[in-house]
Amino acid sequence: MSDPAIPSGPGQVILVGGGPGDPDLLTVGGLRALREADVVLYDHLAPLACLDEVRPGTLLVDVGKLPRGRQTAQEDINALLVKHARLGATVVRFKGGDPFVFGRGGEEWQACAEAGVPVRVIPGVSAAIAGPELAGIPLTHRGLSQSFTVVSGHVGPDHPASLVDWTALATGGGTIVILMGVANLAEICAGLIARGLDPATPAAIVARASLPDSRVVTGTAESLPALAAAAGVEPPALTVIGAVAGLGLPPSTSLEGD
Ligand SMILES: C[S@@+](CC[C@H](N)C(=O)[O-])C[C@H]1O[C@@H](n2cnc3c(N)ncnc32)[C@H](O)[C@@H]1O
Repeated sequence: MSDPAIPSGPGQVILVGGGPGDPDLLTVGGLRALREADVVLYDHLAPLACLDEVRPGTLLVDVGKLPRGRQTAQEDINALLVKHARLGATVVRFKGGDPFVFGRGGEEWQACAEAGVPVRVIPGVSAAIAGPELAGIPLTHRGLSQSFTVVSGHVGPDHPASLVDWTALATGGGTIVILMGVANLAEICAGLIARGLDPATPAAIVARASLPDSRVVTGTAESLPALAAAAGVEPPALTVIGAVAGLGLPPSTSLEGD
């Protein structure tokens, strides 16, 4: 069924990373893509205020996947991208952070490629990097850390579905960044300590980075789970474990300076 808002002609899909939430962290290219879009399929972690920038008549489709909440199946999202592009639309797939950091951008690109739909990618500022730095935690720091690893905490170290080498993380000495790990934080920290991580390693959890109600809770690998639970930290939040989390820098001031 065709949609009157969608022009005919060759369509395309643009995978846009929206950054961690603050509209100021959307790229210039991402903003231009939104302004040119006929259709926008968006997630809840994308900076939704930026949707005010679309042209009148642009079709906005909420395909958000809430943790443990309403789900739009990935296959359905892929099918929508292909359908609208084949009808001639410029379709923006608008996501939080970067589309290829736990963003399933690769799967969407594959689906489009298989359907012969051209894809443009506009990378975004990943919360994995921006979140710590806005909280005053550089992921690398001379003399403290020469590497960082971003892992999914969706399943913990003892879960058979985890593909992460938790022992290498625990003993590697680099900075560990855990996304999607709030629910499993206690299991993750205990699992890292059991695999050789010093329990006194500095650690921090950063919730809603870049947003006005952002919060940071600091502690150690041993103490952080209880501190985060006591503070009522909820997703979206990420955890940083490593010496850099103990630098003690204050969180960044906002662009407005408040
Ligand atoms: C499905 S992953 C998507 C990551 C995203 N593609 C990126 O590059 O930032 C969602 C997870 O990213 C982290 N996250 C996303 N936005 C965040 C924010 N503003 N503050 C803290 N963590 C965030 C949380 O760990 C959340 O569970």
